[in-house]
Amino acid sequence: MKKANADRSAIMEALEHAGGNRPGVARAVGDQTGIPEADVHGVATFYTLLAKPDVQVRVCQGLSCQLEGAARLLEDARLSGARVEAVSCLGQCDRAPAALDEHLEPVLTAPRGGVLPADPSLPIDLGGPDTSAYSALARAMAMGPDAVIAAIRESGLQGRGGAGFPAHVKWSGVRAGEGPRHLVVNADEGEPGTFKDREVMLRRPHKLLEGIAIAAHTVGADTAWIYIRGEFQPCRRALERALVEAKLDLDVRFVDGHGAYICGEETALLEAMEGRRGMPRLKPPFPTVQGLFGRPTLIHNVETLACVPSIVERGGAWFAGLGRGEPGTKLYCISGHVQRPGVYELPLGVTLDELVEVAGGYVGTPKAFSPGGASSGFLPMAHRDVPLAFKPLAALGSMLGSAGVVVLDDTVDMADAARWGQVFFEDETCGQCAPCRIGCSLQRRAVEDYRAHRDPAHLANVEAVHHEMDEGSICGLGMTASMPLLSAMRHFPEDFA
Ligand SMILES: Cc1cc2nc3c(=O)[nH]c(=O)nc-3n(C[C@H](O)[C@H](O)[C@H](O)COP(=O)(O)O)c2cc1C
Ligand code: SF4
Repeated sequence: MKKANADRSAIMEALEHAGGNRPGVARAVGDQTGIPEADVHGVATFYTLLAKPDVQVRVCQGLSCQLEGAARLLEDARLSGARVEAVSCLGQCDRAPAALDEHLEPVLTAPRGGVLPADPSLPIDLGGPDTSAYSALARAMAMGPDAVIAAIRESGLQGRGGAGFPAHVKWSGVRAGEGPRHLVVNADEGEPGTFKDREVMLRRPHKLLEGIAIAAHTVGADTAWIYIRGEFQPCRRALERALVEAKLDLDVRFVDGHGAYICGEETALLEAMEGRRGMPRLKPPFPTVQGLFGRPTLIHNVETLACVPSIVERGGAWFAGLGRGEPGTKLYCISGHVQRPGVYELPLGVTLDELVEVAGGYVGTPKAFSPGGASSGFLPMAHRDVPLAFKPLAALGSMLGSAGVVVLDDTVDMADAARWGQVFFEDETCGQCAPCRIGCSLQRRAVEDYRAHRDPAHLANVEAVHHEMDEGSICGLGMTASMPLLSAMRHFPEDFA
């Protein structure tokens, strides 16, 4: 008989407690939870941090790390005799090439960049003091839920997790549902090139907690869950410290991720929280109607929630007026061939040149940029003047996504860059849709065969395979997984001649 949802989530805790999927663990956890051993094994092997518990060094193979010598670092680590694992992306693109030790703590190769001076006129203000009187929360309580949702609507706040969906629509939807309701914070930041939520949690944990408290109070959520990337232990510690200081009248719980990029997708994240493999659900029903444990659930990205206190305090019109063409400021991540990789809070809609100027300028001669993580593909420098915002980038067939901007100089062969992206998606597809599972593999093979033989015939089916993936995939991963190769072929034909 199928176990109740709440019971199944005990699988994760038991696996964590056992230190991962070592011999005999699946059976012991099965006995302990009453869930069949094969089922437990299926869950444990889905998540890399559980499936490979004895790894001593994890070396990032993301795009920004590849540009800074990730392949060499991997080779050196292997030669050292340590148990080494190549991993997709560690969210440390500003200190590339990145690696983690066996305790999942960063092995520092460079300091974090992008430190901003304190500027209280910014909604998040990463450089600001890490304290809060929680005056926005008090104000939200006094305003009442309708007025808070009206302010969020007026602000034009769009979700910062990638899709840019209007926040107020989700808030109204969850509030209209019957309780109990949940709030889930998506802190699973995993898109290559993206490391902004990490900085919010490290530098402004109180800002995030205040946004969480306001959102939970407004939609009537009893519990706030923070689903946090397993590799972000320093962030978890910062949030736990702040939570003790904040003394919120709210049940806030942490759930660790276990190394699966797909769990950033909101319904895969819910599956993981409920103790299953992180495979996205069919939508509808949307989480606002049927989310965590079947209840109405508000899911937001870290940055989205961190914008909320300032909106409540200063008003929706103020926030809307900060952007250029689209509302608000944006935490832009920038890495690759620039002087000072880091996170910078700027008006939503700045251009690449403006962003790079803040980051100290280009290194070398720029050739290409990826505006929003691996899923956004690559654009040529001819588009350096396009606003880095949701609509203008979508009009170019790309996307802002989570604003993980990576710059590539003219020494980079775009076939290499495309290959790194396709390897990432082949590793990270959850595999439940055949077009995505098979297509990710075909696209990776196509670019590898091309690189091996420099024969464009190997690329003949790339467009057709992309079409099948786009049409036949449940979630955004399958729909965009061809972007690295497709966009590189489209904009840099000289590298595929
Ligand atoms: C493949 C995939 C990966 C995603 N990864 C993340 C992520 O790491 N963090 C995040 O906040 N949203 C991620 N999203 C978007 C979430 O599904 C969801 O839209 C978001 O958490 C909603 O919050 P928002 O409205 O504040 O943007 C991902 C989506 C897809 C399709
Ligand atoms: S599109 Fe890919 S990642 Fe998304 S649900 Fe289908 S197989 Fe999984």
